[in-house]
Amino acid sequence: MAQRPVTDPVTLIIVGATGDLAQRLLLPALFRLRVDAQIPDRFAVVGFSRRGWSHDDFRAFAREGAARAGEVDEDAWRRFADHLYFVSGDSTKDEDLRALAQALEKIEDSHRTGGNRIVYVASPPSTYEPLLTALGRIGLIRKDGALPWTRVIIEKPFGHDEASARRLNALVDQIIGEAAVFRIDHYLGKETVQNMLVFRFANTVFEPIWNRRYVDHVQISFVEEIGIGSRGRFYEEVGVVRDVVQNHMLQLLAVIAMEPPAVFEAEGFRNEKAKVLRAIPPVRPEHAVRGQYGPGLVRGERVRGYREEEGVDPRSVTPTYAAMRLQVENWRWAGVPFYLRAGKRLARKETEIVIDFRQPPLMMFRGWDMTEMDPNVLVMRTTEDEGISLQIAARIPGHRRQIRTVPLDFSYAEMGIAERPAYEHLLLDAVRGEQTFFTRRDEVELQWAVVDPLLRHWEEHPPRDFPNYAAGSMGPAVADELLERAGRRWRTGPPIREAEPAPGRS
Ligand code: BG6
Repeated sequence: MAQRPVTDPVTLIIVGATGDLAQRLLLPALFRLRVDAQIPDRFAVVGFSRRGWSHDDFRAFAREGAARAGEVDEDAWRRFADHLYFVSGDSTKDEDLRALAQALEKIEDSHRTGGNRIVYVASPPSTYEPLLTALGRIGLIRKDGALPWTRVIIEKPFGHDEASARRLNALVDQIIGEAAVFRIDHYLGKETVQNMLVFRFANTVFEPIWNRRYVDHVQISFVEEIGIGSRGRFYEEVGVVRDVVQNHMLQLLAVIAMEPPAVFEAEGFRNEKAKVLRAIPPVRPEHAVRGQYGPGLVRGERVRGYREEEGVDPRSVTPTYAAMRLQVENWRWAGVPFYLRAGKRLARKETEIVIDFRQPPLMMFRGWDMTEMDPNVLVMRTTEDEGISLQIAARIPGHRRQIRTVPLDFSYAEMGIAERPAYEHLLLDAVRGEQTFFTRRDEVELQWAVVDPLLRHWEEHPPRDFPNYAAGSMGPAVADELLERAGRRWRTGPPIREAEPAPGRS
């Protein structure tokens, strides 16, 4: 099998390095990549943030994050920690960024990283513009093409709406250039999402039925049990649509709905996704509902409502739940509704894509018991137990004429090969300069164009019924009505029905 290219030496600078993202996801991913020898010996990680930390404080912080993510071998950790540094400073002040640039040169010398740099922007979205401008001004990032190279990874949400995303894109273009920018959407780094392409385009059996002739509708659920934790202030600024719908969910939709690219490489893949996004008309307010959680019970534990969370306005109208119907107006999908729902503090954690196929004609089974039979459904799970399940109809053994839905299941766990977290895949891709699974400029703008009018409408018409769902429920009743109007239902729970023991067997 062809090996992926060897990576160049590099220094990764994390701006906003004392945040939850760095500790929970970035630093553990870097540690694992190093343990697996995926990143070279000649590397360094420099954390940058306002806190007055020492290198050792940062190492202890990283150690804690790595330990929470998995087992940590002491020797391996010590070797890794020698590459971690911390510079304290304010990312809006030129003198602090200059001090960072100076510290960098020393670190680059001692680890012989050759001056290649990746700047990971993990600070709050409102800092992106001033930060990039300042980094460009002091020369800490240089325009693409120059060697040693510089790349910038930018977290989502990229902008606040289409206009601000365009502004940010123009700035990125001027300072660093599209070839060196990596807009992260960690859902594109998930195993199941990457597998979706193989599943769709490396099998014969699915592609011929992947269209309006055979598909009744598609559901994408981004259901979360967690609340907003310590991110109250961030969440007040974004709400559910900017947090996960505009990015993760529309990317999932694009991967599900896209045409096969001629060649699987960055531009081909992103061109096809952009075509899908371009075919989606803006969401109509009458096709969308919103919600906010009140207090309730999650897995038997009493939890507070959104308005009682830390950093949240007690009269907040920020939605923590949204459901909507989209259309993809192209030859393959015209007339097939795509239903999206996303929410915090729901009854369980699951992100899944459900393809509901049309019912075939069943006249020949006159008189049969089909009460436990549904049309074919394909479920792709992208969190927890990642995998794919297909519901098919089968005759029940015995003397009764009965058809029931049974599952065909594939789970990554059964493959016996550990899945790698999305951030590992994506950090490694960025180090290798591989942009396939990062969002391109036009995609991010098109994604905003889909949700912008809805966001504006909601802002102009504040809700009167918030909070309108209890924590631990499956969201507001209006979300069910959205589908019921069309005689459909959200898929509930796992597709697997417990098999009854066959007669005569225990
Ligand atoms: C993040 C959102 O991008 O994705 C969070 O900001 C959300 O609000 C998270 O909880 C979900 O990611 P995952 O990988 O846990 O499904």
